[in-house]
Amino acid sequence: MRTLLFFLAASLAFLAYAESDHLSPSSPDGLRQGGTLGQDLPAPPIAGDPREVKREVRNYPEQPPVIPHAIRDYQVDKNFNRCLDCHSREAAVQAGAPMVSVTHFMDRHFQVRAEVTPGRYFCTQCHVPQTDAQPLVESDFKAVDEVIRASNRGDR
Ligand code: HEC
Ligand code: HEC
Repeated sequence: MRTLLFFLAASLAFLAYAESDHLSPSSPDGLRQGGTLGQDLPAPPIAGDPREVKREVRNYPEQPPVIPHAIRDYQVDKNFNRCLDCHSREAAVQAGAPMVSVTHFMDRHFQVRAEVTPGRYFCTQCHVPQTDAQPLVESDFKAVDEVIRASNRGDR
């Protein structure tokens, strides 16, 4: 009985030690900043809806434009595509929305098809709504106009 109690106490002490040892180091400063591995921190707030409702200038010609309107509850699956209700060739004029560009009709052989190609069917793979989100990591990205201006000044 004595030995059993001893082992029990010892294993409890070991568990407590292992726990504190493993969970106290500070967590790597990734997207979840600060704290230790064992700590529960509140999740950062989800970014809000579009900050302003207007189309944004693209930073370079092949940039998928950001979405200037809310898309909550817009269904996009194999049977139905809410985005195409307004952005398809047939619907765009009536809806007052910009039509998807010709690249959205090109298959992998660059043949222009009558329908939006499967590779461009799931719109939010490439297009994200504008939000008031702050960048998660620092970025020194420069829009193409800035790059051109800098190279014209000769200080590239
Ligand atoms: C009810 C109609 C409607 C639906 C549904 C809709 N849009 Fe739009 N969308 C618009 C209109 C209208 C504009 C233009 C807004 C403006 O000019 O300010 C627009 C603009 C955009 C733009 C900006 C284009 C540019 O050149 O700046 C993108 C990208 C876009 N929508 C993507 C989507 C995606 C992705 C979905 C589905 C998740 C979607 N839209 C669903 C009406 C719609
Ligand atoms: C594989 C990435 C990708 C997917 C998926 C995609 N797009 Fe795009 N989209 C782009 C890119 C890149 C551009 C800008 C260059 C271009 O036109 O190809 C663009 C441009 C647009 C534009 C602006 C067109 C113009 O002429 O100004 C609209 C509107 C748009 N997309 C809507 C949609 C909708 C709606 C869907 C879903 C049916 C969709 N996109 C799916 C990448 C994508």
